[in-house]
Amino acid sequence: MENKIVVAIDGFSSCGKSTIAKRLAKDTGYIYVDTGAMYRAVGYFGIQKGIITETTINEEKLQKEMENIKITFGNVNGEQHTFLNGSDIEKKIRTLEVGNAASRVSTINFVRQAMVRQQQLMGLQKGIVMDGRDIGTVVFPKAELKIFVNADAEVRAKRRHNELLKKGEKVDYQEVLDNILERDYRDTHRKESPLIRAKDAKLLDNSSFDIELQQKVVMDWFNQIITN
Ligand code: DC
Repeated sequence: MENKIVVAIDGFSSCGKSTIAKRLAKDTGYIYVDTGAMYRAVGYFGIQKGIITETTINEEKLQKEMENIKITFGNVNGEQHTFLNGSDIEKKIRTLEVGNAASRVSTINFVRQAMVRQQQLMGLQKGIVMDGRDIGTVVFPKAELKIFVNADAEVRAKRRHNELLKKGEKVDYQEVLDNILERDYRDTHRKESPLIRAKDAKLLDNSSFDIELQQKVVMDWFNQIITN
């Protein structure tokens, strides 16, 4: 297809960005890139190597190790998995602990620069749906379709809590809500590429949307651009 575009989806944690992005990629035949998974992979690597503890990050050591962090995506039984230096880490990076480490490393300048560089390379051929926090503002400021997703913090906490329970992680709701509020604060207040809505991003508040309705709205936006 000649007129492939770049779709940039940004928004707060646990607001369903990846559900939207995955479905859109599937329905359009585009490649899906979960940039949060890349920051999670760096967080996971740091924890494994003892570079990240609950209270500290050894930035000097992390910077030296950046060239040893190779993040790729692969298809496993029809699902996209994240690989770190060839190992499938998809399950391991979806915990609260790694989510927190990801949020902390994502405030570091050299980490962001390395991730953004890789993400821009992935989008050179277009035909890509990428989700994250800075995709429409920093990674692809010229993306043809930008969507900024949000939902009430309580709605997001309930969704994330259910997801974690289903995966067998025993956490209480308040802990999940606190975690979401803490991450919202960090994502929007960090110095490096804070989460903000690009001026030309379409706003999607899905607090009271079901997945089908949400997908229809997004597909309509996509088709409007493709046919223009
Ligand atoms: O979307 P997620 O929860 O998997 O992302 C994990 C962390 O990575 C999140 O706290 C914010 C950060 N992140 C970022 O700073 N920039 C991105 N493009 C994607 C994620």
